[in-house]
Amino acid sequence: MSATPAAAAVESETNGRVQQHRRYLMCRPEHFTVSYSINPWMEPSRPTDTNLALQQWQSLYDTYTELGHEIELIDPVEGLPDMVYTANGGFVIDGVAYGPKFRFRERADEAPAFIDWFAASGFEVAEPVEVNEGEGDFLLVGNTILAGTGFRSTGDSHREVGEVFSREVVSLTLTDPRFYHLDTAIAVLDPVEGPGGVEKANIAYLPNAFDERSQAILRERYPDAIRVSDADGAVFGLNSASDGKNVIISPRAKGFEAQLRERGYTPVLVDLSELLLGGGGIKCCTLELRGGTR
Ligand code: ARG
Repeated sequence: MSATPAAAAVESETNGRVQQHRRYLMCRPEHFTVSYSINPWMEPSRPTDTNLALQQWQSLYDTYTELGHEIELIDPVEGLPDMVYTANGGFVIDGVAYGPKFRFRERADEAPAFIDWFAASGFEVAEPVEVNEGEGDFLLVGNTILAGTGFRSTGDSHREVGEVFSREVVSLTLTDPRFYHLDTAIAVLDPVEGPGGVEKANIAYLPNAFDERSQAILRERYPDAIRVSDADGAVFGLNSASDGKNVIISPRAKGFEAQLRERGYTPVLVDLSELLLGGGGIKCCTLELRGGTR
């Protein structure tokens, strides 16, 4: 967009972004540490500060509640340091929770903990057969499920998730090991059908995280998407949460912050630097609960 600052401001007013209510599942990082390495960000020899992780996580929690969103908590389990990344705990639409099946042994025991939580919290559980890491690799954009593969969730899980939810699934292949989950390379800006219909649903993404075929699909389906720079992708700028108006992002993603403002969104900056030592950011610590009882 080649708008002058004044024109951009007018446009953001006329864009009239509407905030939608969200219900999220989070997990306090009481046992957070990096004791193994299953992604390039994790270096077990580097010390971690659990108190700092707790403080930063609390600032994300407070940001959501101040914006009026509803947070559910799952109890952290000792010995499962990655449980703070609840996005991997399942994928939930219309009160149905498709359970996770983790790729690595180190996280396998998180699956029953999340599945038990869903069952006890009024969700209908769909037990997975195929390896999948929940909302880390499945993103709902309008009525379509974008599904990532290449590092964690398998192509077979893409078929399975489509069967569970009877929705169109678009498979995308990740190629850069730093961006091993789909939610590190795509941010859903308008996740739910709004007054303007699902065709208004838009995304932001990092083109270089994908193979050629996937880039072509994204270009064609989302011609108005925000394409972020490699620099903003590298600080996990896309690992963010949007309520349709406010977009919670890393303070390091300066270019993305400006792009969001230009489009009429309100960037809200939350620093999760300590949790990045485990290879996770804002979105990783957030699982959206769609439907279900309260
Ligand atoms: N250490 C975790 C792992 O490698 C981080 C998970 C990040 N979660 C996400 N949704 N991207 O599995």
